Amino acid sequence: MFGLGKHYLPDDFFRGACDIHSHLLPGVDDGFPTVEKSLHALKKLEERGIKKMVLTPHFMKDYPDNDRANIMAKFEVFKAEASKVCSIELHLAAEYMLDAQFMEHYKQGFLTLDKDGNHVLCETSYMMYEPGITEMIYDIMCENYQPVVAHPERYEYANRDNYFRWKDKRYEFQLNILSLAGAYGEMAVAKAHYLLKEGMYDYVGSDMHGLGNFERFFPEIRLNKKEMGELERLLGNNKKLVG
Ligand SMILES: [Fe+2]
Repeated sequence: MFGLGKHYLPDDFFRGACDIHSHLLPGVDDGFPTVEKSLHALKKLEERGIKKMVLTPHFMKDYPDNDRANIMAKFEVFKAEASKVCSIELHLAAEYMLDAQFMEHYKQGFLTLDKDGNHVLCETSYMMYEPGITEMIYDIMCENYQPVVAHPERYEYANRDNYFRWKDKRYEFQLNILSLAGAYGEMAVAKAHYLLKEGMYDYVGSDMHGLGNFERFFPEIRLNKKEMGELERLLGNNKKLVG
């Protein structure tokens, strides 16, 4: 349980929690492939005490059928199925890749993380910092949207300067909790601990694409007391965001 001042997260750490990033909507992206697998995961998450899940399917050029109307319709069907087997509250948002289709989604209206309709979960390519990204996000902010950068620790190009510049521009950051356990490699582990230590994260999510990865890595997360406190703060922010 203990080692070098670090503690494993208790199994019930997510009791009453809201997860703001997941790919549980089945068959629409590289997340859960079938309704059955999604429902099985929801039952397991309910056992852990999770109260709310925000479903955030990928909106990117790899999935051209994922537009607002199509995903909203699929969500309603899935939500009806899920309500038969568990009492976790489901919300719909999206994870927007800042690619060529991004402005099209912007015109359709974003599926936002929050009730007030202005927090937009965004991601970029892991490897490349594509020209114009910052300006695009900035344009959105000018229209009263609040960018939430998904898993900033995972971007290979991102360094301390990027992180501070993004925070200066008031982008919010969402930690992928499994980054802390090495699910995305050692660099993401180091960056996640750095950003946690600096208090730069605003929210935390699982970014769950399948139950297996979550069950494999979650028990390996070890945090010191300060980091544990930070994580609790982020869970509190999640709740305030989704309501
Ligand atoms: Fe994601």
